Amino acid sequence: MKKQIHLPQPFEYPHRIEISKGDGCFLYDQKGKSYIDFVSNVGVNNLGYNSIAIKKAITKQAGILTNATFSHIGTKDQEELIAMLCKFCGKEFDTGYYAATGSDAVETAVRIAVAKKGKKGKIIALKPGYHGATLGTAFLTSEDMPIKTLFNAPYKVLRANYATNEKETSKCLKALEVMLKSNKDIAAWIIEPILGSAGYVVPAKNFIVGIRKLCNKYNIPLIADEVQSGNFRSGRFLAIENFNVKPDIICLGKSVGAGLPLGIVITSKRFRLKHHHYPTSAGANLLAIAAAKASLKYIQAKKLDKNAAEIGDYIKERLAKMSVDNVRGLGLLVGFDLKSSKQANSTISSARKNGLLLMKGGKKSIRLCPPLIISKNIAKKAMDILEKSI
Ligand SMILES: Cc1ncc(COP(=O)(O)O)c(C=O)c1O
Repeated sequence: MKKQIHLPQPFEYPHRIEISKGDGCFLYDQKGKSYIDFVSNVGVNNLGYNSIAIKKAITKQAGILTNATFSHIGTKDQEELIAMLCKFCGKEFDTGYYAATGSDAVETAVRIAVAKKGKKGKIIALKPGYHGATLGTAFLTSEDMPIKTLFNAPYKVLRANYATNEKETSKCLKALEVMLKSNKDIAAWIIEPILGSAGYVVPAKNFIVGIRKLCNKYNIPLIADEVQSGNFRSGRFLAIENFNVKPDIICLGKSVGAGLPLGIVITSKRFRLKHHHYPTSAGANLLAIAAAKASLKYIQAKKLDKNAAEIGDYIKERLAKMSVDNVRGLGLLVGFDLKSSKQANSTISSARKNGLLLMKGGKKSIRLCPPLIISKNIAKKAMDILEKSI
């Protein structure tokens, strides 16, 4: 008898499909049915599937060297990628720490901030907020997770509300200042510049500006978790640039490795440590670095940041004419609300039957996250499908 194999999944997910291949913005299931992918593996696949640029880069690198354990052998490519990313982050950024995933990048960022402080410190994280699934990042995440009931948090997290509109901003900022006055030993403040898992909710501009001012006043490093929102998806390299705010420490992951596992933390000289406190055998993988460099070059050559902004606007225009609420977003991070969680689930199921893959966010939101290479024509087809699936 054939042994039955089990693959435990992180969530109960009724919309999972078995894929046979991908091409451009399309995925194909085992029966050959095509789907326009508006999920991009939750923001990993900026260049879609089967990208010639990425395939070429990986194939070339595979013939040279696939892995160089960063600690005792290194390559020029490892330095060159950090140099490219620092250039996009701004002139004060000159330091990079490699990690293997987005969660690793967030863990690394927190360790850098605490190590610079030189003693144990509390971390401010907002609600809602998703920062990863490792032990440290799960405790920064506001959602309930089984892991949190089974383990102790590795550090004390101070939780405050995220202002999702101008009306809530001054109330939230005031509550935050009260918290800062009564807690002296804070090592870092981490934010998602646009809420990912909560449904691509864009914060009020003055909220992000206000956080920066509080960080300056109380001398707290600001960590921007750009794992989902960074790497040009918002129309700018970092989503936080849309608010004209500079963070101190930047976490990158997901699309930065163009489909290969890679996490990176970028900082200025102020957060340069003599040693990386989180050595990892899988971080700084050379195939991932080759893919990352090729992807950055491709995005620039094809001006995909501009495309993200333009197609994002088109998607929002179309949504504004549909029976949905709270249309919002930055670039190709677009969210909207439906009447209930049930309606969001049924919309995802109908869209899937009609050839469009969607993903939920928050309780009753849908998040739209197509590859950055998407054309207006494909976006139009997707929005037609969405309209008839609601
Ligand atoms: C904002 C944010 N931070 C961190 C992570 C964790 O990244 P990874 O799943 O690669 O560990 C995610 C993943 O969804 C994320 O959206």
